[in-house]
Amino acid sequence: MKTPVVDVKNVKKFYGKKGENQSIALNDVSFSIHEGEFVGIMGPSGSGKTTLLNVISTLDHATDGIVQIAGNDITKMKQGQLSDFRSQKLGFIFQDFNLLDNLSIYENIALPLSLQGIPSRKIGPKVEKVAKTLGISAILSKYPSEVSGGQKQRCAAARALVHEPAIILGDEPTGALDSKNAASLLEAMTNLNEEQGVSIMMVTHDPFSASYCRRILFIQDGELYKEIHRTSTRDAFYKEILDVLAGLGTQKA
Ligand SMILES: Nc1ncnc2c1ncn2[C@@H]1O[C@H](COP(=O)(O)OP(=O)(O)O)[C@@H](O)[C@H]1O
Ligand SMILES: [Mg+2]
Repeated sequence: MKTPVVDVKNVKKFYGKKGENQSIALNDVSFSIHEGEFVGIMGPSGSGKTTLLNVISTLDHATDGIVQIAGNDITKMKQGQLSDFRSQKLGFIFQDFNLLDNLSIYENIALPLSLQGIPSRKIGPKVEKVAKTLGISAILSKYPSEVSGGQKQRCAAARALVHEPAIILGDEPTGALDSKNAASLLEAMTNLNEEQGVSIMMVTHDPFSASYCRRILFIQDGELYKEIHRTSTRDAFYKEILDVLAGLGTQKA
């Protein structure tokens, strides 16, 4: 069997010192994501979603357990190695776009490649290719302040993708978009996943966004609670997600 893109084994994350208001953000979480999957992470506020994403994205350290990305054990890497690893193997899409206002859309997308020291003659074709995939070829010379929220987020998706990372990680990527722009971003992400086999893991609290995923992991109180797969239409999956969320809400007193 192929090495998973993400392999999380018995991961724990505690905040604070033992005995002194220690909070358990992740408690023995294990799961894998395989190449070409589109996985959603859902759960109530405070359940550990952002912590999990931060631990996988190397922005935070697990207290215990192992996290492997494309076969590399990131829990054993040093700071310098981690930042190289992050810039080569991971792509991020955040809720608030994180675009640089004084760079053009083209320059924003090119940034992960320029930071790696790739010569500009090699950068051009790559930027143009992802821009085309995401439908933003016509706005490459504009600045973030001159384009819509939906276009900004597709620019962020293009930037996340341009260096061909092992996986794209999203933290509420549709959080700042209206429903029309959210749908067009999710369609674009689905295309990337289905047509180019890009692996995606996305944290979201929004059942509509989550319905675009093929598999969803639900976490509660830092533990995996349930996992569901999309087997038929997105509509049916949406209803199934709502049912699980309703169960989560009433599970504990
Ligand atoms: N930096 C931190 N220091 C202390 N506790 C934290 C910190 N970050 C998160 N937590 C706690 O860890 C738990 C999980 O938080 P988080 O991962 O942000 O949840 P979610 O993203 O699902 O809302 C919560 O109880 C939260 O209060
Ligand atoms: Mg969060």
